[in-house]
Amino acid sequence: GQALPVESRPFASYGSALHIALPQAPRAGQLLTLLIDYEAGEGPGVCWLSPEQTAGKQKPYMYTQGQAVLNRSFFPCFDTPSVKFTYSATVKVPEGFTAVMSATSWEKQKDNTFVFKMSQPIPSYLIALVVGDIVSADVGPRSRVWAEPCLIEAAKKEYDGVIEEFLVVGEKLFGPYVWGRYDILFMPPSFPFGGMENPCLTFVTPCLLAGDRSLVDVIIHEISHSWFGNLVTNATWGEFWLNEGFTMYAQRRISTEVYGLPYTCLEAATGRALLRQHMDATGEDHPLNKLRVVIEPGVNPDDTYNETPYEKGYCFVSYLAHLVGNQSKFDAFLQAYVNRFKFQSITADDTLGFFLEYFPELKEKGVDSIPGFEFDRWLNTPGWPPYLPDLSPGQQLMRPAEELAELWAADSLNMEAIEAVDIMGWRTYQLVYFLDQVLQKSPLPEGNVKRLSKMYPKISKAQNAELRLRWCQIVLKNNLEAEYSKVKDFLHSQGKQKYTLPLYRAMWGGSEATRALAMETFSATAPQLHVNVQNYVKKILGLAAAE
Ligand code: BES
Ligand code: ZN
Repeated sequence: GQALPVESRPFASYGSALHIALPQAPRAGQLLTLLIDYEAGEGPGVCWLSPEQTAGKQKPYMYTQGQAVLNRSFFPCFDTPSVKFTYSATVKVPEGFTAVMSATSWEKQKDNTFVFKMSQPIPSYLIALVVGDIVSADVGPRSRVWAEPCLIEAAKKEYDGVIEEFLVVGEKLFGPYVWGRYDILFMPPSFPFGGMENPCLTFVTPCLLAGDRSLVDVIIHEISHSWFGNLVTNATWGEFWLNEGFTMYAQRRISTEVYGLPYTCLEAATGRALLRQHMDATGEDHPLNKLRVVIEPGVNPDDTYNETPYEKGYCFVSYLAHLVGNQSKFDAFLQAYVNRFKFQSITADDTLGFFLEYFPELKEKGVDSIPGFEFDRWLNTPGWPPYLPDLSPGQQLMRPAEELAELWAADSLNMEAIEAVDIMGWRTYQLVYFLDQVLQKSPLPEGNVKRLSKMYPKISKAQNAELRLRWCQIVLKNNLEAEYSKVKDFLHSQGKQKYTLPLYRAMWGGSEATRALAMETFSATAPQLHVNVQNYVKKILGLAAAE
């Protein structure tokens, strides 16, 4: 094809391919050592934060985020999840800083030099580095938390004594935890994800510091990647559901063992609501609403990110379990699956082929081609999942929230019935579920949201990020101008993509006043956001050059 001008070349900012000509063609099986001298740091994989962008506001901070294809701007690599390798790194940092990496061992030497080694093969996207003013505290026999000094108390308190149980349950269900340590690093507020499963060292948003462990499902999710994603890896980003769908399933299996079925079903219901919102917004037939996505050359896999691989993927894995019809048999299958494909990168064909091989009686019955539920349809047809796991064990927690949302949506409020409901004892996810219902019914009749806000300061003045997100969405959908400042404050306080984009979409789709709020908030916060998040917001606000 025709050469594109440099600035519109896809991934131009990610760097360019490194071509190495060998003096003579190597023989098959010959060991080759290449020494590459390079400088990096301008690309999007490496994030440099000023002191103001940290929690402590004293010292600068740097971190890397590799998934999906950003690590090519960090170091020369085969930047595809289909290739795995071990690595070691020697990192020299200025006085007063500490370096940590996603590695099985690390050692501090003299001259502020840290030496890391990852002894298991991993794909390029899982290599990660942080350099900052960070300290650690033990929270379990193989786990510690890392954070800036001003956050370490809170970090330790949030997860002290709880991580080991998740690991033990994970090992019971899915087999040995092969990564040695499982540590958690609390990132600066602009970290764009809830969590990132860097092996041995999960990176998480400081929003998880809710004070009551209520957001621990994110930790269970990242722990679950220790088997699904980090051990058995999607061979291409078009098969991302293999990482995230299996991980959602594993997360909810661990959660069921630790917290019980009702609570886990409630959490899964909030996930289903997100999938509903996503499909309503894009249209069910959108090509991204299938599990196997076609990513054309030059398209950034991150641009295909959405809820489908997570929640439709979860439904498909649940459907496979439903076909088996017996939880412990399916658990045993998952363990065999991990064992069969550990340290490899695979496609859905490998997964489903192994499933049918493992359950020959199902293969004989032709479960892969039951009309309406064909495996091929699951993978290649967009749309709402043909099978939904039964979440009714969560009814005892969901029902009161649904009823209360009904009451608040009425034209004339039945205050007696409303006051009879005591939400003070509700779990965070019950409140989240309630707010999702209210949002779905919004705009509510004039005046209702204002009253709701007054009645429940636990919600409208919440510090918990999941509650703040929902409250801001409700404020915007109901044009509650008096509380627009809460949207602004929330967007100033953190930069998680899944919180930031929905709020800008809501502001941009709203009134002139909310559009102005969006512009004002973005111009004040843009420098703090991860470049990818910045670009997505620009696109929403019509600030990016048309593609
Ligand atoms: N691996 C993802 C985060 C990710 C995905 C980073 C794609 C870059 C590209 C991580 O495991 C994840 O899914 N995090 C969720 C947690 C949630 C599903 C519990 C998040 O950040 O919200
Ligand atoms: Zn994940």
